Amino acid sequence: MQIRVVGEPSSVADGAAREVIRQVTERPDSVLGLATGATPEGLYRELVKAYRRGRVSFARVSTFNLDEYVGLPAGHPASYHHYMERHLLAYVDVDPLHVHIPNGQAPDVDQECRRYEEQLRRAGYVDLQILGLGRNGHIGFNEPGTPFGSLTHRVALAETTREANRVHFPAGQEPPREAITMGIRSIMQARRILVLATGEAKAEAVAAAVLGPVTEQVPASILQLHPSVTWWLDEAAASLLE
Ligand code: F6R
Repeated sequence: MQIRVVGEPSSVADGAAREVIRQVTERPDSVLGLATGATPEGLYRELVKAYRRGRVSFARVSTFNLDEYVGLPAGHPASYHHYMERHLLAYVDVDPLHVHIPNGQAPDVDQECRRYEEQLRRAGYVDLQILGLGRNGHIGFNEPGTPFGSLTHRVALAETTREANRVHFPAGQEPPREAITMGIRSIMQARRILVLATGEAKAEAVAAAVLGPVTEQVPASILQLHPSVTWWLDEAAASLLE
C-alpha cells in the first residue's frame, strides 16, 4: 500500500487525476470504477479540464459506479446518476452505452444487484477503482459489519451516513433508507485502487483503515490486503497516521 500525503484537497484531485489519465492513456478501453460524494468532485473537475485540453479521451472507456440509492429516479438531484452527469459524464466523451450505474428504481432490487454484478464480471472487473471513505470507514455503501465476501447487494444505510448525506436532499426530504452497492469482494477485484480522503473528519477512519486490524467493523481495512492501493490524503485526513 502506498500513502501520498499532500497539502491541499486540490492536490489530492490533481494526483488522482494524473493516475486516471495515465491509466486511460496506457489502456484506452479501461474499465474505471467511480465514486460519488464530495471528495472526488475535484478529481472529476480535473478530468473534464484535461479532456477539454485534448490531453485525454474517454471514448473507449467503460465506467461502473459503486452505488445508488434505492427508490430515487435517475433525474432526482440527489441521485448518483444525476451526480455523475453533473460532475463528469455530460462534459466528456464517454459512450453512454458504456456507463453503468445501479438502477435504484428497478422493480426487483435483488435481481438488479445480481444483474449489476454479472455486468461487472463480464466486463472483466475494474482496472482502476476510485474510492471515497465514509467517516465510519465505509467504502461504497458497505457499512461496518458488511461481510468481506459480499458481492453487489442491497443495504440499509447507517443513520450517520444518511445524516452526512442529508445536505444533498431538498429541505424536508428524507434521504432513502436503502441503497444498492458493489460489495467488498466486488471492489477488491479491481486491479488497482485509489482511495481519496480529505479533511479532519476523515482522519479517524483513515487511521483505523490503514493502521488498525483488518476487520469487518472497518470495511476499508480490507484494503490492507489488496496488492495495489494508493491512498491520496490531504494533511488533515492524514493527521492521525503518525
Ligand atoms: C459514494 C460512496 C461513498 C462515499 C463516502 C464519502 O459513491 O461510495 O462511500 O465515497 O461516503 O463521501 P464524501 O466524499 O461525500 O465524504
